Amino acid sequence: MNATIPVDTLTEAEASEELARLAREIAHHDAAYHTHDAPEISDADYDALRQRNAAIEARFPALIRADSPSARVGGAPESGFAKLRHRVPMLSLDNAFDASEFAEFCARAKRFLGRTEPLTFVAEPKIDGLSINLTYEHGRFVRGATRGDGTEGEDVTANLRTIKSVPPELHGEAPALIEIRGEVFMTKADFLALNQSQAQAGAKIFANPRNAAAGSLRQLDTRITASRPLSLFAYAQGESSEPVAETHWTYLQRLKAWGFEVNPLSRLLGNETDAESFQTEIGLARSGLGYDIDGVVYKIDDLALQRRLGFVGRAPRWAIAWKFPAEQATTVLRDIRIQVGRTGALTPVAELEPINVGGVLVARATLHNEDEIARKDVRVGDTVVLQRAGDVIPQIVSVVTERRPPNAVPYSFPDVCPACGSHAVRPPGEVVRRCTGGLICPAQRVERLIHFVSRAAFDIDGLGEKTIQEFFNEGWLHGPADLFKLPEREDEIATREGWGKLSARNLSRAIVARETISLERFIFALGIRRIGSTNAKLLARHYGSFANWRAQMLAATQIGSDERVALGSISGIGPTIADELTDFFGEARNIAALDELAAELTIEDAARADAADSPIAGKTVVFTGTLETMTRPEAKARAEALGAKVTDSVSKKTDFVVVGADAGSKARKAAELGVRTMTEAEWQDMVG
Ligand code: IVH
Repeated sequence: MNATIPVDTLTEAEASEELARLAREIAHHDAAYHTHDAPEISDADYDALRQRNAAIEARFPALIRADSPSARVGGAPESGFAKLRHRVPMLSLDNAFDASEFAEFCARAKRFLGRTEPLTFVAEPKIDGLSINLTYEHGRFVRGATRGDGTEGEDVTANLRTIKSVPPELHGEAPALIEIRGEVFMTKADFLALNQSQAQAGAKIFANPRNAAAGSLRQLDTRITASRPLSLFAYAQGESSEPVAETHWTYLQRLKAWGFEVNPLSRLLGNETDAESFQTEIGLARSGLGYDIDGVVYKIDDLALQRRLGFVGRAPRWAIAWKFPAEQATTVLRDIRIQVGRTGALTPVAELEPINVGGVLVARATLHNEDEIARKDVRVGDTVVLQRAGDVIPQIVSVVTERRPPNAVPYSFPDVCPACGSHAVRPPGEVVRRCTGGLICPAQRVERLIHFVSRAAFDIDGLGEKTIQEFFNEGWLHGPADLFKLPEREDEIATREGWGKLSARNLSRAIVARETISLERFIFALGIRRIGSTNAKLLARHYGSFANWRAQMLAATQIGSDERVALGSISGIGPTIADELTDFFGEARNIAALDELAAELTIEDAARADAADSPIAGKTVVFTGTLETMTRPEAKARAEALGAKVTDSVSKKTDFVVVGADAGSKARKAAELGVRTMTEAEWQDMVG
């Protein structure tokens, strides 16, 4: 279903399908964001999905699903922390994106209340962090939980105690039980410093301050949370054993008196018409603030009115979040650099004239893939519009073509890998171009080595990911062949931290034990794309020996060769997988690495497929004439797979001649020599 079909032209059937798709997609992004702290799309894109869902539901109320995203908040809590059920659900806010949507919200609230006089609001910056609920009993902080799915969150009490702005005790008089809600966040500066130290330690890089805050709060080791600079702005109430205020504004004053930080930009607005100028004012201040905000929350001040208005779905009728547009800036694209990922994917990265976007200095942006560059016609030297939507890696929105330098040329995506010079190919129907130098590409080395020693491949005991990385950093491992040279370093390994004589000896033994390896494990271990263990097994059983496989694959690199056709017609292989193999064998340096590796090993022959109980095992077969149900290479591949030898000319040694249409001299010769001939149909019957 095309998500760009305007909502008002959708048919009922399309709408129903679209609502199902949106429910799935939004649930997926909720889990990525809330449960894994790793969002995959920008906030703006997420909001767009929700808005589209809401618009379709508004047009087709009968189609609203039981699992509708409009009735749900966030993601279910992850295990590891005890679950805490919220006494009062932690809900979300509806969004407005412009003055007219805000005006609509005010009109709705007034209609509901049956009132015409203006509303008094409290306006507070909408902090981009994660909301938490703090429970105080007799003035003491006893429990704290994340929002989770709104009904049940995670018990992060111990971690919250490490945050300076969570008072362990309330100052002054407080109800016996009171729940305070607020936003935990990390400042932009602390976030950048944290990512820097994470990068140095080779640890996880956070996408934005909000994810860094969420990831830090949800650490099982409290010491880690304590080392992360988190803050809290308090802004709402949960359960309370007695009323504490009559207006939200006075409630905020009580929060301050109890020892909480309340956002200093919060303001009491006597009239809803003041909202627009407040929105502009905060919008202008936004990039200069030390923390990320993504809008302003407007809350009706009178708590009695709030109670009357209540909630609808997941959001209150008495508050709205008026969101800012994504922060944008223009700058010059200095260069496009191609990054090679650990799996060989080539990703274009924009190198920019550094620019401040929403208070964060940006020097790089993702360009996604080559189609995206072509679609936006982004050229080196161009002035581009950048957008940061809650994410620190910004996107390039568009090109300011009027400012294009006259010599700027369309970008041509490289077809060789910048890391190793191997050819980089893009299979039909895919967007990603990949390096084919799997065995030699420095960008892919570690990943390939880890795969090489994995369970279904060489399965070398004692050689895990960590050890591979350690030996790689030492400069001992360039390619897989080097693994078999490790036993020569046994004494040196024994003296390393975490190693001893025995463990070094065991490692050497485990490596030597794998110097003899089955063909199928060997093929799988090479890590050729799409050659998992099942396909490796098919290939091993089809070609039988390493020497035969290698020779056939080299021949198959010739497009249109019999070997190429034969490869693609192996049952279970097909042309796409055949292309991956020929891409690999088309790279001379892969062959060199393959041979270097094979020289270290004894590669056992595989039992050839079907050959054992095949009626043609060991027989010599000739095909002649035009075959109808199969191509000549296909027939040859099948016969060979069944253990037969296929030759071109008929002799006394020939066992069968399979005669197709318009057969000529070979059929006659067979008759002369008394060699058995059969039709294509008879042949098919025999080989099944
Ligand atoms: S009030 C019943 N006030 O925005 C509504 N929320 O999109 C209670 N947020 O879950 C929320 N700053 O995480 C409120 N000043 C503020 C806020 C704020 C940020 C977050 C909060 C909430 C989300 C809703």
